[in-house]
Amino acid sequence: MKKTARAHTNIALVKYWGKADEELIIPMNGSVSLTLDHFYTDTTVEFDPALTEDIFCLDGKQKHDPKVAKFMNLVRNLAKKETFARIDSINHVPTAAGLASSASAYAALALSATSAAGLNLTRKDLSRLARRGSGSATRSIFGGFVEWHKGTDDLTSFAEPIEEETDWEICMIAIVINGHEKKISSRHGMQQVVKTSPYYHEWVKTAEEDLKLVKQAIKNRDFSLLGEVSEASAMKMHALNMSAKPHFSYFMPESILAMQKIEELRSQNIPCYYTMDAGPNVKVICEKQNVAFIIDELSKLFAKENLLVANPGPGARLI
Ligand code: ADP
Ligand code: DP6
Ligand code: CO
Repeated sequence: MKKTARAHTNIALVKYWGKADEELIIPMNGSVSLTLDHFYTDTTVEFDPALTEDIFCLDGKQKHDPKVAKFMNLVRNLAKKETFARIDSINHVPTAAGLASSASAYAALALSATSAAGLNLTRKDLSRLARRGSGSATRSIFGGFVEWHKGTDDLTSFAEPIEEETDWEICMIAIVINGHEKKISSRHGMQQVVKTSPYYHEWVKTAEEDLKLVKQAIKNRDFSLLGEVSEASAMKMHALNMSAKPHFSYFMPESILAMQKIEELRSQNIPCYYTMDAGPNVKVICEKQNVAFIIDELSKLFAKENLLVANPGPGARLI
């Protein structure tokens, strides 16, 4: 059977950065994200008894990717199946640039592969499975505001929607500074940090408080609290990178330019905050009513085609 699934990316407000279990991808701390409508992955899976190995194509080009093969083995185990599959994936998001392609990728693969194998998993089980491909994919099974409960093992580490179809008109403006592949993958970056940053313990401790506050902000529609906590979580994560041994950073000069611009707008009473992931691209968190003005201001510094507006998006689904 051949099935196609679409999953959207998500950007964390309280970040996941570090694993307690590398094999099962159990995070050191819980996280909260917003799924975005603008960025997504479409993945088609077809099992074919004639194949002697999985064939994976990304954006029309055949790739050798051991992570995909490993993930497909998990699906085969669940389905008690030995057949290999053809996997065709199209990213409507820059790949490996800190715009969360691994999140939409493994959420779409979890749904398309299990459906093509004849399984009908609950969304909780899909979230647990997507986690095995990429931690952030755990959250992309769901739409809107999502929490990933860190859990302690394979059964207890999964995501759940906080508000799947939120009526809060929150937007993220992605400032695409560089859409090329990063040099240090998220997986490698966070490993380095857990192993070597002297501040890692504090990160884990303060993440608990950040989670509480961000959930409170969502519940009370408290935009400035949401923005403050999200921005701080992102900056703490980047500080960890700079405190690792060897230290590293995802910042580019334009990332700093963008963040300073947002701070300047804020000092003029425009409510806006920023977040950054494992890549140089900055995302501006704002409310819909301020998007046009913020875009106008940002376009004084960045080309308009590099300013992409995303609204809350839906969970993974078959198409
Ligand atoms: P990002 O910030 O884009 O999530 P990561 O370093 O977390 O970057 O992950 C990038 C990796 O995710 C890629 O190198 C590739 O292994 C995987 N990936 C991205 N898109 C796809 C896809 N559509 N299908 C399968 N794997 C993908
Ligand atoms: C900075 O989920 O991409 O975007 O689990 O190793 O695949 P792996 O890493 P990934 O890490 C995402 C890190 C982040 C923060 C977040 O999305 O919470
Ligand atoms: Co990723």
